[in-house]
Amino acid sequence: MDRYIVKGGNALVGEVDISGAKNAALGILAAAVMADETVLIDNLPDVRDINVLIDAIAEIGASVERIDRHSVKINGSTINSTCADNEYIKRIRASYYLIGALLGKFKKAEVTLPGGCNIGSRPIDQHIKGFKALGADVKIEYGMIKTEAADLHGSHIYLDVVSVGATINVMLAATLANGNTVIENAAKEPHIVDVANMLNSMGANIRGAGTDIIKIKGVEKLHGCEYSVIPDQIEAGTFMFAAAVTRGDILVRNVIPKHLEAITSKLYDIGCSVEEYDDAVRVISNGKLVSTQVKTLPYPGFPTDMQPQIGVALALAEGTSTIVESIFENRFKYVDELMCMGANVRVEGNIAVIEGVEKYTGAQVNALDLRAGAALVIAGLAAEGFTIIDDIHFIQRGYEGFEQKLRKLGAVIEMVDSDKEIQKFKLKVG
Ligand code: UD1
Repeated sequence: MDRYIVKGGNALVGEVDISGAKNAALGILAAAVMADETVLIDNLPDVRDINVLIDAIAEIGASVERIDRHSVKINGSTINSTCADNEYIKRIRASYYLIGALLGKFKKAEVTLPGGCNIGSRPIDQHIKGFKALGADVKIEYGMIKTEAADLHGSHIYLDVVSVGATINVMLAATLANGNTVIENAAKEPHIVDVANMLNSMGANIRGAGTDIIKIKGVEKLHGCEYSVIPDQIEAGTFMFAAAVTRGDILVRNVIPKHLEAITSKLYDIGCSVEEYDDAVRVISNGKLVSTQVKTLPYPGFPTDMQPQIGVALALAEGTSTIVESIFENRFKYVDELMCMGANVRVEGNIAVIEGVEKYTGAQVNALDLRAGAALVIAGLAAEGFTIIDDIHFIQRGYEGFEQKLRKLGAVIEMVDSDKEIQKFKLKVG
């Protein structure tokens, strides 16, 4: 089983290029199957979740041509099945975007219930509410979601909770429904705007993405296009916090600074300096971090996917900080791992109260989920001594070349798969 071993203590300094946004790319790949012409998608991150979805798209019969690690051509005219059900697709959350896409195109879809990170209960009732409002029957049977509609018609849908997944899924299906759909209380994340832009370049008629009311005029069919995925705001934020906790100075390139405002603002609060350029941000930490209060919220609030990373920084910040996790109730599991490294955190329900400590010391910890795993790597880079992070397959789901990018910034980190390799690494780096 692959693990990382990290020797902490080096300030991370230099430049890093951010890959395409995983969560936008997942919606965009699903949208691509809806046309009967070729769609070229560029700036895809080369990460496991993306590659699993591309394989699933090939398995239902779409023609898939990998151009290189970051681009793919998809043509949905050859699709011969509306059933996506395999071992791998079960493990990714965004498998459910195939429901919206296939239901829109073929008025029928059967997809394995979604997996994804275990960060709390992840119901899909709002997706189902949306599909039903568009006229589909929805059943859950034998671990599959099965939907079918004689005819999909536009509808007025109020989402009871702000959900990224439900907003994208309903938007996908409504694109090819008859008539007009309005999604109210829609999520406003940059990846929703990106999926809407992609659908519009395929001939859809979607207005208002990025606000909480999205209006969709159904069209008869979609055509091919070329589309480049936006940069990953969470990968960028992860490197920004890596600069903060390692007393580093990192220029994070290929980003849209506007998408990073909530993250930038918290970096200011904890005492870092942030310089914004057209498509880059530079984060400089003078070493002294101060406490702050954080509440995770839907965009444009502070993202839940950055909560473990800011938690790692706050546990080293002078004073008492609090984090309120308002999106996923089970997102503080990493705290136990962090405590093995010397952090002082008390979790009560969805609130973590953090007393800053002087330093972390290396330990053996478990990645637990995608973002928690990345956060623990950052903690290891700030820690005294060696840290081993187990179960890094979680990290590989969403971070392209994580250890290579970190190494370029001066991190001492290696992927290892045996105790012998750990000993070798320790001898090598001393
Ligand atoms: C997406 C992201 C994930 C991120 C999350 C919140 C992808 C593949 N994943 O997940 O990285 O952490 O947004 O920004 O893009 N909810 C319901 N009913 C539903 C759907 C959601 O009650 O039908 C609740 C969830 O339990 C959660 C909240 O709504 O409390 C937000 O979830 P949602 O935005 O749907 O998250 P995902 O789309 O699963």
